[in-house]
Amino acid sequence: NGGGEYSLDAFRHLALGEVTSTNSECLRAAREGDPGMLWITAERQTAGRGRRGRHWASEGGNLYASLLLLDPSDAALLSSLPLAVSVAVHATLKSVLPSTAEALEIKWPNDVLIGRKKACGILLEAEMLASGQRAVVAGIGINIRYRPEDAPYGVTSLSEQGVSQGADELFACLYREMAWALKLWDHGRGVAEVTRLWREAACGIGGLIRVNLPDRSLDGRFVGIDDQGLLILEAEGRQQLIAAGDVFLL
Ligand code: BTN
Repeated sequence: NGGGEYSLDAFRHLALGEVTSTNSECLRAAREGDPGMLWITAERQTAGRGRRGRHWASEGGNLYASLLLLDPSDAALLSSLPLAVSVAVHATLKSVLPSTAEALEIKWPNDVLIGRKKACGILLEAEMLASGQRAVVAGIGINIRYRPEDAPYGVTSLSEQGVSQGADELFACLYREMAWALKLWDHGRGVAEVTRLWREAACGIGGLIRVNLPDRSLDGRFVGIDDQGLLILEAEGRQQLIAAGDVFLL
């Protein structure tokens, strides 16, 4: 359908105060029969989730947003959805950052960095519903006024980078950019375009990286990503495809 289903007015938005996690709220809405295309934002989260089971500190003043999609594509294409989401977040931040700000980059799979410090995290979760449909939730946390002090990696916030907009203005922008990126990505037809935009914004391609996997870590050269969004790593004398892990630029 050429992305027609992702027109701006096809989305609904529910703005909440304090929740456990906007991802959990979206999954609950799906179980209760919500038809999808639903954004849930919250002012604060008491149990914000990060990738790989980590906690996402969620004080007031930042953006916590999740988008619920039902059956957005067949399973094979889902691995490229995080790329579309990070391209949308990248475009959102690009439109608010002053021209003097440090480099805005995406770190595989979908962290958005400013000056090599993390400003945003994205967590995709999927669940099969009793109806047989697949609920997919894209959760986005953007550090606006607050940044965690105890992160094991460099972190920054938009206010620290000279951005004056608050969560509402940022969400209005994210809402538009996500509709645009999903339209591009729609059911696989634009995946090549999304991966091209992702590569353009990515950091570390061609360089040495360390990938921490659940059971070990691998050092090698970051060759790029394939059209499913998998990381291509040249290590141990061969090219390896990585689906999930934490990347450190060496
Ligand atoms: C990461 O580990 O980098 C991903 C962090 C994702 C955080 C966002 S905040 C909104 C949504 N709700 C959650 O519980 N997590 C995501």
